Amino acid sequence: MLRVPRGGDVFTFVQRVENLTFVEAARLLAERAGITLPEDEGQHEEASETEAIYHALRFAGRFYYRQLTRTEAGGPALAYLRQRGFSAETIKHFGLGYAPPGWDALLTAAGAQHIAPETLEKAGLVIPRKDGSGYYDRFRDRVIFPIFSHVGKVLGFGGRILQTDADQPKYINSPETKVYAKSRVLYGLYQARQAIRQREEVILVEGYTDVLSLHQAGVEHVVASSGTALTVEQIKLIHRYARRVLLLYDADSAGATAALRGIDLVLAQGLAVYAVELPAGEDPDSFVQAQGAEGFEAYVEQHRRNFVRFMMDQARRAGELDTPEGTAAVRHRIIGTLARIPDPVFRDAYVQEAAEVLTMYETDLRAALDRQIREQRHRQAREEHRPASRATAPPEAPPPDDAGARASGAPGGRPAATEPEPLPEEKILLRLMLERGLPMVEHILGHMALDEFTPGAAQEMVRHLLAMYEAGQIRTRDFTSGTLGEAVQRLAAEVLMDPHEPSQHWEKRNIPVPRLNEDPVESASSAMMLLKLDRVDAAIADVRRRLLAARDDEAALRDLQRRMIDLQQLRKQIQQRAFLDW
Ligand code: UTP
Ligand code: MN
Repeated sequence: MLRVPRGGDVFTFVQRVENLTFVEAARLLAERAGITLPEDEGQHEEASETEAIYHALRFAGRFYYRQLTRTEAGGPALAYLRQRGFSAETIKHFGLGYAPPGWDALLTAAGAQHIAPETLEKAGLVIPRKDGSGYYDRFRDRVIFPIFSHVGKVLGFGGRILQTDADQPKYINSPETKVYAKSRVLYGLYQARQAIRQREEVILVEGYTDVLSLHQAGVEHVVASSGTALTVEQIKLIHRYARRVLLLYDADSAGATAALRGIDLVLAQGLAVYAVELPAGEDPDSFVQAQGAEGFEAYVEQHRRNFVRFMMDQARRAGELDTPEGTAAVRHRIIGTLARIPDPVFRDAYVQEAAEVLTMYETDLRAALDRQIREQRHRQAREEHRPASRATAPPEAPPPDDAGARASGAPGGRPAATEPEPLPEEKILLRLMLERGLPMVEHILGHMALDEFTPGAAQEMVRHLLAMYEAGQIRTRDFTSGTLGEAVQRLAAEVLMDPHEPSQHWEKRNIPVPRLNEDPVESASSAMMLLKLDRVDAAIADVRRRLLAARDDEAALRDLQRRMIDLQQLRKQIQQRAFLDW
């Protein structure tokens, strides 16, 4: 089950840590308090625009959720979802919502929170009117399915109409935006990833409601590609958690065609692929609602086929095996698919069975397979020599494996001498995360930005903790064993062995000091507050220096004074622990 901080819903666990700088975090906090921080120098503009979009999306997610669960207007939508068998828990877990009718419900609500229509447009939530007189809501009178990134950021929405209507599409989806690249997102992955990791397998379905029904029944390792064909990026995302993909498709031919299309891609990424066809007339949603989890799992166990058998069955059904030349073509096709498997051992494991299924001599099959592998390598080499025109954007977060390499910029990390020393409260936070594991990492990193930690070993440790959090397990020993580099090892040993609690530092500033083992969550909250205060104090000192230097540049002075006031406000909010409500 999803673990959220006390009192939170699916939208309140804020995973800003990866992308958010302290400046942006400060801006967000200020935004909520209704203050405007001056825009920072150009380099931050890009990042803060992204952050504003995420903020708008999260706001919209909450808004729709409240409309569904807490307003009269949401009644029919709620009734619809309940009648389809979705529990209140499922609705909460997936953050389902309702977009009210009218043209500006979201626009107005967002406006009251100082979210600009332009930002809503960039988030894909509103559409500019043709006559240039403003905007209108994209989603109106629809059930809302928020689409989360694998770390839980709201990226976009799908909206389903309540009653079938020939004039309107069943679903309206968010467009591609700066933060939502459909080819890199899988619906339900955020909620499914722990289960996927446990089973080492992911079930791929087509629709939102298929994911919901299966998950609700207890089959939690399910994601949907949301109406698009499976992409390489999606498979790479899956590969972080799973080794096998199970394609679950309807008995109609469209379902099988879609399943067939994904096979080569999945294999090429080094995952195993299986397929299961549902009984005629059923989709995963209807099937699991009728059969329950046990019936579903039993059916899948009995009907799952590896890709060789699946491809052969499809060919037989399509009449492709009726002629000798047809049979030869099918054999070639399946051998071509086998050739996609990059790992020779893994590939070899299929050869015997393939020979049987394709009714070929194993030696003939091997010869044909070798030929195809050579041909594919050839083709690939030619493609790689073409000028690179398809540069792909980096994924949202580095995969666990190379997170450390990126953080340190060089293997082994930089020499410690050039790096600032982490602060005492920072060490407390690191220690608490190492000692207490997942829930503590979630509590702390859910409220801290990466930039708030000291550059160097401390930030590197945080990156590793994030990667491990994402992977579902905090492996403390990796920090102390040296696996993660010398700098990390040294710091980990230091924070874990630190015999005293930083009480002087804390008491000096009138912060009650809970003892670490009495109330670790409270200790963490205090340490976070202290660290944030230290960061904001540094920013204040910096502005003060610049104020002195600005002398008679009046524009600069005004700007700096404004910034000083904002920072003071922010400081007050931090002291009041407003950051815990983010
Ligand atoms: P389905 O029509 O099977 O949708 O389309 P569903 O989610 O099972 O919905 P119910 O059960 O009828 O309520 C499969 C997926 O294709 C996309 C959606 O992502 C949907 O979940 N789709 C479908 C669209 O994007 N637009 C459409 O008009 C229809
Ligand atoms: Mn359906």
